[in-house]
Amino acid sequence: MSRWPNFFRVSIGKKAVVAVTGCILVLFVIAHMIGNLKVYYGDDDGMPAIDEYAMNLRTIGSEFFGYAGVLWIVRIILIVAVVLHISLVIDLAIRSRRARPIKYKHRPKRIMASIASRLMMVSGLLLLIYIPLHILEFTTGTIVFGSYSQWTVYHNLHSAFSMEYWYVPLFYIIVMVCLGLHLYHGAWSVFQSLGWDSPDRNRGFRWLAMVIAIVVAGGFISVPVLFWSGAMPEPTTLNTTTLEDVATERSNATPSNVSTQQ
Ligand code: HEM
Repeated sequence: MSRWPNFFRVSIGKKAVVAVTGCILVLFVIAHMIGNLKVYYGDDDGMPAIDEYAMNLRTIGSEFFGYAGVLWIVRIILIVAVVLHISLVIDLAIRSRRARPIKYKHRPKRIMASIASRLMMVSGLLLLIYIPLHILEFTTGTIVFGSYSQWTVYHNLHSAFSMEYWYVPLFYIIVMVCLGLHLYHGAWSVFQSLGWDSPDRNRGFRWLAMVIAIVVAGGFISVPVLFWSGAMPEPTTLNTTTLEDVATERSNATPSNVSTQQ
């Protein structure tokens, strides 16, 4: 029999996979948050830095992998990481519950642990609901608040995070707070799963987990807050007619046979 099934049956192996996939997802959210900060450059000459960045994500390595090829490789890695992460977390939770028929002696600790793990489940579930809605809003343009074009990211953000649709930025802020909590506890668990925790290092790890959570959640939250408060300059692509012109112009700048791909 192959060694792989045995490896997966052992919970230490599963914990390692949860930790590695968690690290991949953390790296993605850090990269995504840094990319989003390009909105701070505003709407320079009608081609905002964030629009240029979104175009680059699709054209990078296109000589070898075709249009959006690298982006699709990253998407597939993320999908595999999310599926493995969630299924193994659920599997480990079920196993640990089954393996613990005798009640804990130290009740306070148990309460703390169950609050933390419940928080992980609730925040994870919220992220699971959020991600498809988020992709339908900003990547495919299926759910539209105001107006949308896949070539005008700055405009799309300005349109969705406006006073008129106040519940959209509010929803984002709530989800990002949950993301921060999930990251804090998740990062801390990764250190434990990897066996790095020890009384003299734990303080440092807790601080590191807290810094990651605050920087990532804070960076993300700043974007809807800035648009919502009206602090960001209005995009030059204000009305739908201009939006269509910009979309045609930008899609012509990329290979025509792929201009409608996400
Ligand atoms: C305030 C917070 C956020 C903002 C403003 C934001 C904005 C955006 C925008 C504008 C896009 C489309 C980019 C493009 O078309 O090139 C996008 C895509 C995406 N975002 Fe976010 N995002 C936020 C938070 C998050 C979080 C927390 C996650 C995951 C936990 C996430 C996951 C994704 C994914 C998976 C995509 C699709 C990438 C692709 O396949 O092209 N986003 N986001």
